[in-house]
Amino acid sequence: MCALCALLCSFLLVSLTTALSLDDVWDGSAHFAFVSKARFPTTPGGQEYGMNVGFHFVPRVVDGVDTWFLFHREYAFASAPSYCQYDYARIVVRNSTDQGRTWSDKIVVTAPVPGTAQECAIVDGAGFFDAATTTWHYIAQCLARDHSWRMCHYTRAGLLPDGPFTPNPHNPVVVGGQLWGRICALPGAHCHVGMVDEGTPEIVLKDADGFFYVTFHGWDAGRDQSARGIARTQDFVTWEVTGGLLPGDAIFTSADCATWNISWAKGGCVGGGEGTMLFQNGTFHHLIEAPDISLGCLTTPGQQNWVLGLLRSPTFRPTLGWAQARNPAVVPAVKQGCYIQYHRLFEDSTNTYLEFWADNWMQVLQLAPGPAAWPIVAGPPPSLLD
Ligand SMILES: *[C@@H]1O[C@H](CO)[C@@H](O)[C@H](O)[C@H]1NC(C)=O
Ligand SMILES: *[C@@H]1O[C@H](CO)[C@@H](O)[C@H](O)[C@H]1NC(C)=O
Ligand SMILES: *[C@@H]1O[C@H](CO)[C@@H](O)[C@H](O)[C@H]1NC(C)=O
Repeated sequence: MCALCALLCSFLLVSLTTALSLDDVWDGSAHFAFVSKARFPTTPGGQEYGMNVGFHFVPRVVDGVDTWFLFHREYAFASAPSYCQYDYARIVVRNSTDQGRTWSDKIVVTAPVPGTAQECAIVDGAGFFDAATTTWHYIAQCLARDHSWRMCHYTRAGLLPDGPFTPNPHNPVVVGGQLWGRICALPGAHCHVGMVDEGTPEIVLKDADGFFYVTFHGWDAGRDQSARGIARTQDFVTWEVTGGLLPGDAIFTSADCATWNISWAKGGCVGGGEGTMLFQNGTFHHLIEAPDISLGCLTTPGQQNWVLGLLRSPTFRPTLGWAQARNPAVVPAVKQGCYIQYHRLFEDSTNTYLEFWADNWMQVLQLAPGPAAWPIVAGPPPSLLD
């Protein structure tokens, strides 16, 4: 073989094996392409999948194979006790080794326990595998009979999340307003004391000092404003809102989405809700949902804008400090509150993925070379249109 051919050949190999990153989406050299869809009825073949969402992925290499662990909530697994008048839900985990095309049976992570902070429901949390201590963590919203959402934390020792997690004896580890009250009282913070409802937590990283950095949404009903914040903790019991990598402010508020190319309703974008963050190549990429009118879903078509925006920053900067993509980044096929829900960004050893729930399907897309139409339109999964 000629020297040039050998050179070309190795060049091509290197090009093919160089992973794409979210930075390539920013500069228009990569796009997200559909890979799989799934949904999770409580009873196999059943119809009760619409509430079994709240997805969170923890990819791990197990015995040399990329394995995605998917945590999600599950309703309709038992009849609710009379004191649980609203949600009655538990958390399960399952795994996939084929990029979400097929999933294992579920394992129950945690379920309602009478007389505790989680006696009615555990929903919308996130997992984390701490390799330094070989411990799995899960932090979620939990609900007792008083109808007040709080946050609860769970752990399981071992390499795999292969059985029930142990509730933190201090549950609930965060009560409504506990973190937001402190963040919004900081000098110069861009939110008001009165913001509550810490929810949809996501553990972004653990630092060298053993601090877990956790993001969460907040809702200020008096002002119709929502935001996303960040705090840190070593034990999920004692929380800090300043210090280390923390910005000492909300990381996303209505000021960040006010200028997006959306005909917002009167009052504008209310702020952020669920958010997912992926650290790649020295940059935090934040994909966050933002509605108008309310952080509550208005599901009549045409009533409410509910879109996702993409931002990035080398550090956890305060609100307005993050660079914006041409936002919105993901829009629903139908203008409708909560048409797109429970989105995540994650990566395994081969690629970077975007997941969202739309048209009653959990859909996974992966990075592929080449530009794409922008914004991404979340609608029925492609295979249903064939
Ligand atoms: C995947 O889930 C199945 C069923 O819950 C379980 O038997 C299996 O051990 C899991 N695989 C891994 C790698 O955890
Ligand atoms: C704003 O969005 C509309 C579609 O709603 C599109 O036609 C227009 O090109 C967008 N403008 C910019 C500056 O991206
Ligand atoms: C990583 O970031 C640097 C600096 O922004 C950039 O030049 C480089 O292309 C990025 N690498 C990848 C693999 O995205």
